[in-house]
Amino acid sequence: MRICPALNLTSLFRTLGLLVVVSSAPAARAQDNLEHRIDDLLSRMTLEEKVGQLNLISHGPPLNWDNIAKGGIGAFLNFNSAEEIARAQRLARESRLKIPAIFGLDILHGFRTQFPVPLGEAASFNPELSRLASVWAAREASHVGLQWTFAPMADLSRDSRWGRIVEGFGEDPYLGAVLTAARVKGFHEGGLATTVKHFAGYGAPQGGRDYDTTFIPRAEMYDIYLPSFRAAVEAGTESVMAAFNALNGSPATASGWLQTDVLRRQWGFRGFVTSDWSGIAELVGHGIAADGAEAARKAILAGVDMDMMGELYVSHLPTEVRAGRVPEAVVNEAVRRVLRTKMRLGLFDRPDADPSHTDAAFPSLESRKAARDVAAETLVLLKNRNETLPVGAGIRSIAVVGPLANAPRDQLGPHAARGHAQDSVSLLDGIRTRAAKAGVEVRHAPTCDLFCRTIDHLPEALEAARASDLVIAVFGEPQDLSGEAASRTRMALTGKQEDALKALIATGKPVVLVLVAGRPLELNSLAENLSAILMAWYPGTEGGTAVADALFGDVNPSGKLPLSWPRAGGQLPLYYNRLPTGRPPLPNNRFTLSYLDEEITPLFPFGWGLGYSNFTYSNAHIANARLTADETLEVSVTVTNTGHRAGKEVVQLYMRDPVASRSRPLRELKSFEKVSLEAGESRRVTLHVPVDRLGFHLDDGTYLIERGAIQVFVGGSSLAEKIGEIDITNETRRAPLLGE
Ligand code: BGC
Repeated sequence: MRICPALNLTSLFRTLGLLVVVSSAPAARAQDNLEHRIDDLLSRMTLEEKVGQLNLISHGPPLNWDNIAKGGIGAFLNFNSAEEIARAQRLARESRLKIPAIFGLDILHGFRTQFPVPLGEAASFNPELSRLASVWAAREASHVGLQWTFAPMADLSRDSRWGRIVEGFGEDPYLGAVLTAARVKGFHEGGLATTVKHFAGYGAPQGGRDYDTTFIPRAEMYDIYLPSFRAAVEAGTESVMAAFNALNGSPATASGWLQTDVLRRQWGFRGFVTSDWSGIAELVGHGIAADGAEAARKAILAGVDMDMMGELYVSHLPTEVRAGRVPEAVVNEAVRRVLRTKMRLGLFDRPDADPSHTDAAFPSLESRKAARDVAAETLVLLKNRNETLPVGAGIRSIAVVGPLANAPRDQLGPHAARGHAQDSVSLLDGIRTRAAKAGVEVRHAPTCDLFCRTIDHLPEALEAARASDLVIAVFGEPQDLSGEAASRTRMALTGKQEDALKALIATGKPVVLVLVAGRPLELNSLAENLSAILMAWYPGTEGGTAVADALFGDVNPSGKLPLSWPRAGGQLPLYYNRLPTGRPPLPNNRFTLSYLDEEITPLFPFGWGLGYSNFTYSNAHIANARLTADETLEVSVTVTNTGHRAGKEVVQLYMRDPVASRSRPLRELKSFEKVSLEAGESRRVTLHVPVDRLGFHLDDGTYLIERGAIQVFVGGSSLAEKIGEIDITNETRRAPLLGE
């Protein structure tokens, strides 16, 4: 990802598929023509028609269909059938100026075919798979006429109390930037415009409470929370969604710093900003607007172009403009951004979706295969005592227990768009099918209901366990405990799941825990006593096949944690790239960084994940140890698969600036590459890091790369070994851009 201030317009336009070379004369002409078309339309629009373009309304109440043909609604959400989309679009095209509407939906990890939730997808550390999952989601959604997704979510989060951590990529800004860009590209390739959300700071609410306030120093915004958004802008996202939260006392929906200074002036974003659901109306609740009119005024002046489900722009902006409190030029600019996007997407010119199209065409064999391939790489093997997994020849019978073994809806995860439970291959079905091939007997006992309120049915599960050679226990978090409005203070296994697992372990049979959940859960003493732990996240429609592939060794697990797994909720927020302290942890010294009642370290660190092979690292070499800020660091290392199976390893490069003008993180991921190695194979892997990415920001947005030593670590997790140092020989300081 480039961090330098200039927007990469070439890639923006290329991604949009509009222009091949931005500076070419035909491209400039196309751009001019488009702006002239918009000028012409704007000159013919009434104020009411203008604000209609800024009005985003959901299917269902309070949608007034008659208002569409009057030009009162420019954009829709939550339409998901081609027939309804076509009906609304016909009305929009009957409006005086015949401006088509744009139809959006939350399509995060699939439309009908559900792929693993974004946090799980992040565990693959494989941008190609992120792209692929998004291509499929977009392809299926655009088949029924949708044009726009409210994704990707680029909110970095270090706090798994926050239920929406499941919708993002975890705790690392570099991984986040790479995957967010890959998701934007994938959605575009599949035919959807994107909305990167929620801008910004939404992933760090106090106490992990969804919608609560956020305090993040601006320097940290630039270094940690904004890079994934910037990557989306550089990848050509058409829109941005303003966050619900207040950031440092200013609600994001009325923050000119976020929506104009950073987004447009510093990054050159040319698309439009939508509010989140009733986000503008909520400015009253935030206590910065006395009424709807003031809320509308503050939001539009801050740079929020579209009002999602507030109807405040249509109700108040005409009066605000006529009274001189909002310049009409501001409204015109917002409308221009919306029209520009509609034109670039071809909505004025291309035929509407065929109303006979339905999502029943999916999942197809091909989409199922893609979902299975993606899910395979998202599974993280956290523990595997004495090679309990894969299921070996000695295992003749398996007890599949736990409430999430046969939970076809819950395995899809939150925001499953048009995902259908009946399309799912449940974990139980996947294991049964695979076991049958191996001649292994399967006994099933659900143990308890999804929330495990009672364990009255534990005896059946214990009986199945005692009669079998191995227990596969599928426990975790039902889907409704994850996602929006799903903050938790306790992240233990739900209800009586822990008791049930302890009883199963007490049978003396090896117990493999397959966790289906949208966040890391507290495992307490289970972590010690389970034989193996496989984190499956919400693995999607093909979850059962993918999990069975991994359990039986048809696939060698290769997922790595995109976050630090806490031992206890009280450790949160917890993240590997934290700042140093003057009192680093010292054993037996209470007056150092420590808890009295818990270890200071995570249970499993960021970047961690096992497989059925082992990988060793040797002969690490830094090609060029003295570098100027415009050069690129090159590090190579030999990675060897010392196991007996082919496998994939995520080679990770971390760096640390040990002495700088301000404290710098203990380590930061700067590059990674996923490699496939046959059993016994060695490969020289070369990673590159432009020195330009080794700096940091000051609160005013200035970017600074300081001279001096930077340590380099390479390995298979954030515990990677130090392999040497480089020396940056010159200082670079770049003030933020201040465009129009
Ligand atoms: C969520 C957004 C979502 C919107 C529309 C809101 O509640 O915060 O992420 O895009 O609803 O469904």
